[in-house]
Amino acid sequence: MARVWTLEEALESSREEIRQGYREYVNSSLVGYLGLLNFDRAFVRASGCEVWDSEGNVYLDFLGGFGALNLGHNPPRVIEAVQRCLERQRPNLLQSSLNGLASALAESLAAILPTGLTYAFFCNSGAEAVEGALKTARAATGRTVILSTEGSFHGKSFGALSASGREKYRAPFAPLVPGFEHIPYNDVRALEQRLQAQDVAAFIVEPVQGEGGVVVPDRGYLAAARAACSRTGTLLIADEIQTGFGRTGALFACQHEQVCPDIITLAKSLGGGVMPIGAFVCSERVWKRAYGSMDTCLLHTSTFGGNALACAAGIAAINCLLEEDLAAQAAAKGQYLLERLKVLKGRYPLIRDVRGKGLLVGIEFAQPSGLLNRLSAGRLGGLSYEYLGAMVAGALQNEHRIITAYTLNNPNVIRLEPPLTVTYAQIDRVLQALEDVFEKNGSLVAFVRTSAVNRLRS
Ligand SMILES: Cc1ncc(COP(=O)(O)O)c(C=O)c1O
Repeated sequence: MARVWTLEEALESSREEIRQGYREYVNSSLVGYLGLLNFDRAFVRASGCEVWDSEGNVYLDFLGGFGALNLGHNPPRVIEAVQRCLERQRPNLLQSSLNGLASALAESLAAILPTGLTYAFFCNSGAEAVEGALKTARAATGRTVILSTEGSFHGKSFGALSASGREKYRAPFAPLVPGFEHIPYNDVRALEQRLQAQDVAAFIVEPVQGEGGVVVPDRGYLAAARAACSRTGTLLIADEIQTGFGRTGALFACQHEQVCPDIITLAKSLGGGVMPIGAFVCSERVWKRAYGSMDTCLLHTSTFGGNALACAAGIAAINCLLEEDLAAQAAAKGQYLLERLKVLKGRYPLIRDVRGKGLLVGIEFAQPSGLLNRLSAGRLGGLSYEYLGAMVAGALQNEHRIITAYTLNNPNVIRLEPPLTVTYAQIDRVLQALEDVFEKNGSLVAFVRTSAVNRLRS
């Protein structure tokens, strides 16, 4: 029988109560899935790069909220910004007027984005930012075709999913939005050929594919895409939801190649890890074509978009990012991490590749034929491609208290995406743990035996 909880009760709920709640009211399969690798701990406190479970154990967070925690968990200045709005009793939602915090955040974004990206629309998530960008591209060009790349991830709402490039997430929801086409990532010729017909509204692309397995394109890809789009009247949408706000070693990844897209999508760390907020920002020309009259200025709206608390968090997050020069920190620390991972790759055949930009780093695993099959008494054999990354993440978490995860569109890759405030000592700890997992290999073996297989049997 369902009951209403008090906040105090909810804050104090035990691991078993949470599991039970998920089993009955949220997602029962997820409980089994996370439980398989003992990932379903109750985490009760978080600060910076660290989180604590209900038993008082401290973990190092190298997942970083899938890129939403560039400033770390609970950054004090972002929390303080939200609290100041609450103390002053600022109206959080009053859509019948204009909001000074939204315009301040929009101008702050214009100040740090590539020159010319000025008009911001605020929403609540990455997928929503992508939806808005895609709609804007159609409205501004009068064309319907949206081109995106294989392996890409743009979110799971209908438009964003239609642009995304992994069949597993798309197939159950077909038919998706008409007019979407995919070409291989990092393939300038395929892009140029498809754009020739001059019927494509927009090419949406991640400067580095995050969920695709941390795929860094060849230098010059984005600049070539910019040129091809400009030649054919196609809008270039840079999806910087994961790569933005310093993650790759520049404030925005398209700045590595001095590229200015027509539209940029943002979310994740825009809210400083405290408030959910997304945005798309476009040039004046694009904005005016899509929404530049009183008749069209409300074509695209969102009830919570631009709410005062989320905008206050965004303003504080940008100030922290700049004052602490987190982009430069990401560049230096990312290089340090990647260089040492390359040494590990030379020593352990289980690692097929290590790659990344700034602190968006991926480790891809070779397929050890039959390894998981052997380890799981045949029960995980067919799933080995899907789960090897998860197994390594499981060993890191359960034996070394380091949180990582595999990438959504390429489960054979684990990402290392810590807050940009991570210390060199913390990076060294992760390198040491990885070495331990690969060195023994038995560590992985033992972990799979004792954890996954036992749970499958039970
Ligand atoms: C590049 C990119 N675009 C869009 C999204 C979707 O963002 P959200 O999960 O906030 O909808 C993600 C999320 O991982 C992403 O990495």
